[in-house]
Amino acid sequence: MEKTVQLYEGKAKKVFATADENLCIVSYKDDATAFNGEKKGTILGKGVINNRLTNRLMSLLEQAGVPTHFVEELSDRETLVKKVSIVPLEVIIRNISAGSFAKRYGVEEGIVFSAPTIEFSYKNDDLGDPLINDYHALALKLATQDEIDTIKKYAFKVNDFLKAFMLEHDIELVDFKLEFGRLSDGTIVLADEISPDTCRLWDVHTHEKLDKDRFRRDMGGVEDAYNEVMRRLLGDTV
Ligand code: TMP
Repeated sequence: MEKTVQLYEGKAKKVFATADENLCIVSYKDDATAFNGEKKGTILGKGVINNRLTNRLMSLLEQAGVPTHFVEELSDRETLVKKVSIVPLEVIIRNISAGSFAKRYGVEEGIVFSAPTIEFSYKNDDLGDPLINDYHALALKLATQDEIDTIKKYAFKVNDFLKAFMLEHDIELVDFKLEFGRLSDGTIVLADEISPDTCRLWDVHTHEKLDKDRFRRDMGGVEDAYNEVMRRLLGDTV
């Protein structure tokens, strides 16, 4: 399958049309941004790592009963996916306090929750992806109640699966962000990516950060951290 026209360029990926109207090709970039694009940089090899990791995790999730957009890895950076229209909600699951949760509620990072939390952000760069609740999402017609229920069910299933999978590889799944899409028949599927860009991943023993927080917080060792996650989860490096 070949790329035809570019449909969209986001901060970390480009999306191309193909000859099949129901399929797209996603191309992963090394570009990194944070704080709604205010901070810009490059993480060498990130595109390859995020492409491979996302595809492996989505294949495993598909087997675990979560439908995804994944079809086939085409190359190091390119993947064939089902065409979706993205539901404009960023779905965030947290197992341990960190990031905006710690800041918003004035608590330290690292508090292990007795049950995971879920929250939505309205995916809208102009507004800075504001936090939104179910009622607001319904009022704004971003999704139907049925879709929200399905999305929550899948998001917790993703958490159960990923948390256990990461732990087998000595990684703590602190929190992560998912995006869902609608196929042409309205079916909800997991889309976007699952990578160190979109998850907080800590070493289970040392709590060392193995994710994009190293870039967001100017901690250094960003490429090494991404490579370490790939080595642990896929047994490979770029
Ligand atoms: P937060 O603590 O900054 O709200 O982030 C929660 C999780 O969501 C964290 O794993 C990083 C991820 N995330 C994204 O994937 N994209 C974003 O734009 C933001 C702000 C967070």
